[in-house]
Order: sequence, then C-alpha cells, then structure tokens
Amino acid sequence: MNTYATVVLAAGKGTRMRSTLPKVLHSLAGEPLLSHVLNAIEAIPSSAVFASHIASIRSHHPIVVLGHQAAEVEKAIGERCLYAIQEEQLGTGHALMATQHVVESLNPLPQVVLVCYGDTPLVSGEMLARVLVEHLARQATITFLTAQATLPSDFGRVVRDADGRVLEIAEVKHATKEQKQINEVNSGVYCFNSNWLWPALHNLPRHSSGEYYLTDLVRIAASSWGLEIATVIGKLEETIGINDRVQLAAAEQLLRRRILERHMYAGVTIIDPATTYIDAKVTIGFDTVILPGTMITGKTSIGMSCCIGPGTTIDQSAIGDRCFIRNSVVEEATLEDGVRVGPFSHCRPGAYLAHNVDMGNFAEVKNSYVGAGTQMHHFSYLGDATVGEHVNIGAGSITCNFDGERKNHTDIGDGAFIGSGTMLIAPVKVGAHAQTGAGAVVNKDVPPGAVVVGVPARLLRMPQAGDGSVKEGSEKE
Ligand code: UD1
Ligand code: CA
Repeated sequence: MNTYATVVLAAGKGTRMRSTLPKVLHSLAGEPLLSHVLNAIEAIPSSAVFASHIASIRSHHPIVVLGHQAAEVEKAIGERCLYAIQEEQLGTGHALMATQHVVESLNPLPQVVLVCYGDTPLVSGEMLARVLVEHLARQATITFLTAQATLPSDFGRVVRDADGRVLEIAEVKHATKEQKQINEVNSGVYCFNSNWLWPALHNLPRHSSGEYYLTDLVRIAASSWGLEIATVIGKLEETIGINDRVQLAAAEQLLRRRILERHMYAGVTIIDPATTYIDAKVTIGFDTVILPGTMITGKTSIGMSCCIGPGTTIDQSAIGDRCFIRNSVVEEATLEDGVRVGPFSHCRPGAYLAHNVDMGNFAEVKNSYVGAGTQMHHFSYLGDATVGEHVNIGAGSITCNFDGERKNHTDIGDGAFIGSGTMLIAPVKVGAHAQTGAGAVVNKDVPPGAVVVGVPARLLRMPQAGDGSVKEGSEKE
C-alpha cells in the first residue's frame, strides 16, 4: 500500500495582489482560490487515471501551510484540511519545511509528498493524479508538472540537457537570457519521495533575498547520481498562477467558460455565454434557458425547464422547476415550482414563494412566506409576512412592517383579497377570504370573510354565519 500526503503552500504575502485580503482567499467563480485547490486534491481518488490504482494508494487530509493572515484563512476554509504554520515567509522551500512535523505525525507514514501551491486554482484532480501515478510508476525521486507557455511569463523555466534530462528549474529572477527563451515552464505541482525530501530540504541554499526555493530541489536531485526526475506535461490553462489581479481576471474568464460548458453539455441552454456568469457551486436542471446578462452566484440551485433572465441576478437561492425570472434580483430566497418573478422585482433574504406564485413587476418580498397560487402583480411590498394560498395582493399594497423600532409581522389568510393601495399596519392579521377596499389603511385585525374599507379601515360587511357569504354591515362608506 502506497500512501501520499498532500501539502498546499499558502503562506505567502501575496504582495502583488495589493490587498488586505489574503491572496488565497480572493474569490474565483464564488469560491476562494484555496478552496479550488482543495477541491482538486479531493477529486484525485475519483479521477479516471487513478481508477486502477485506487486500491493500492491511500491519501491523508491535505496539509495547508499558512503564515500571513493565517487566522483569517483558517476561519474561511475550516476543518477540511490540517494546517501548519510558516512563521516567517522565507520562500516556498522554507514553507514546505514547516510541514515536516505534521507529515511525519501521519499514520501510516506517507512515502510520497504531493505539493501544490494555493494560488494555482485551475489545476484539476485529474492532473494531480497524473503526476502522482507517473511518480509511482517511475519510482522517481521528484516528478513535477510542466506546461508549454507561448508568451513570456513569470513561471520558472525547465532547463534540460541535450538529451532532454532535467537539470534545474531556473526562476525568472535569476534566469539567463537564454533560459528565459525556454518555453517549458514549472507549473508548481510536485511529487517527492519523502525519504529523500526532508534531508534535501535542509540542504537548500539560501538566496541573497533570504529565501529558500523549493525549485532548487530539482537541481539538487539532478546533480546527485542515479536519481530519477520525471515530468508530466500538462495544459498551460490548468497551471495559471494567480499573483496579481490581472491573472485573477484571466483565471476567472477561463473557469467561467469551463463552468458554462459543463452546464451546456448537461442540457442547459445559455444564449450568450459572453454575458452569463455562473459560480462554480451552482446547479441547474436540464432544459432551463439562461438569457443574456444573468449572474447566478453562491450555492444556488435551479430546477429544470426554467427561463432565467435577461438581466437577472440570483444569489444563494433555491429555484424549483418551470420558474420564470425576468430582469429581477433574487437573493437568499426559495421559489417552489412554477413561480414567476418580474420583470423588475426583488426577492430578498428569507423570501419563500410557494408553488405557482406570480410575483409580477416592481414587487419586493422579504422574510415572508407566500402561499401557493398567490398573485401580486404590481408595485407591492411584503416584509415579515405570512401569506396564505390564492391571495390577491392588489397593486401598490404594502405591509408597513417597521414602526421605527421593531419589525412587526403581518398574517394574511387563504383566499384574502387585498385591494389596491392597501396599507397593512403591522402587527396585523387579515383573516381567510377577507377583503380590503382600495386604499384601505388596516390597523386592526380583520376577521375571516369580513370586508374593511377606508382610512383607518372600518368594517363594511361581516360574513353571514353558516354559509360563508357576506351581508351588509351597519357602517357604510
Ligand atoms: C512559483 C515557482 C515557479 C513556478 C510558479 C508556478 C518557486 C521558487 N517558484 O513562483 O517556479 O513557475 O510558482 O505558479 O517556488 N508561499 C509560501 N511561503 C513563502 C512563499 C510562498 O507559503 O514563504 C506560497 C504562496 O502563498 C503561493 C506559493 O507558495 O501560494 C507560490 O509562491 P509564489 O511567491 O506565488 O511563487 P511564484 O513566484 O509564483
Ligand atoms: Ca504564484
């Protein structure tokens, strides 16, 4: 049984980001850079290349090296990995040294250490698995991932001899003019034989900047007799490292395209990929159509046969099947099947629209349950309310939920008819099948089946006992 430990280096200052946020917490398609790397590591065992080795290779939880703003990173990432601290940021070689005690405390002791960087978020589990499998197959001392770059870049260059044997990785800062012309670059994914690794790390030279480069291990291995250095050539696209915000935007564009293609292959129509933004964690059912100018972010799920957009933002929400959402904003809301929203409406946090609710234009719902089949077509606000089924919310009706100090609740029973321009002064209850006249200002509870009108609203009719019909009340308009 082979075991491997995975180490992610994420302690660097990320100076080139010019940010108060730690570099590895910058967001890419809605997830921190570091989470993307951890996702790839977690995907190794299920990768196709790994399939025939799964029985003979065992992994441990990844170990993430933190330093700069360690507490913030640990808080954001949580318990999906182990942590090691690099007190002073003295380079990538020094960062790996800081994990030795954690790796050596693992049981069983890993024979292989797979290292990747927290700022290369596009690397896939498949690619990491290829490096690992190659390393084991070749019984190499070091195996690392390279890529062919066409443009000049800040990647370390892979220097080989005339026979193609790897000699060293030359960092751009120290590379000769000739070395800078080399197209093969170091992607920053390595497998090391752990028996060799730890003593070799302690022999790393210190550069004049005070740093220890992990990449110098390649030169050390190459100059020792009889050690195998293997390489795997990967796609450049997967190895993009994020050092500044220009690279962050480039990675976002690549990842966004990948995400959109995944949805399209799974049966989602995306009319204009160039103006559609979908975060990594979003799920969408087949036959849903996404119209231009739409952003779907966070942990959002969308059912099948929906039509979303144009010009719509949906964040952290659950949308059922056959929903239509046009030119609207939906955040932290739940929409059951067959709900229609918009154009120009806003579902705010805690909005729950049950089956077939029709929330038309210029409407807002916040922290409210709206029962099945209820209609609110024009210019209405429901806040902190519970609304029954098949209620009609007339144009311009508003729950006046805030009295300046507190948010108060409004209850509207099944089948109630809220006349246009009704102000419901919360806390207040409107009974089932009750009606309010146009422009009523309701500041007292309305009994079921009753009709109230005026300012403040007074009783116009009470329902007749027994048959549910209504009779004329004593007060008239
Ligand atoms: C590094 C490689 C380079 C490679 C490139 C690929 C070295 C010396 N160079 O350069 O060959 O082509 O990545 O993306 O390794 N880190 C620490 N502690 C430190 C310094 C860095 O944990 O003291 C972490 C950073 O948080 C980062 C990663 O190591 O996630 C890489 O460091 P970075 O400074 O970005 O290295 P590059 O200059 O990109
Ligand atoms: Ca980098």
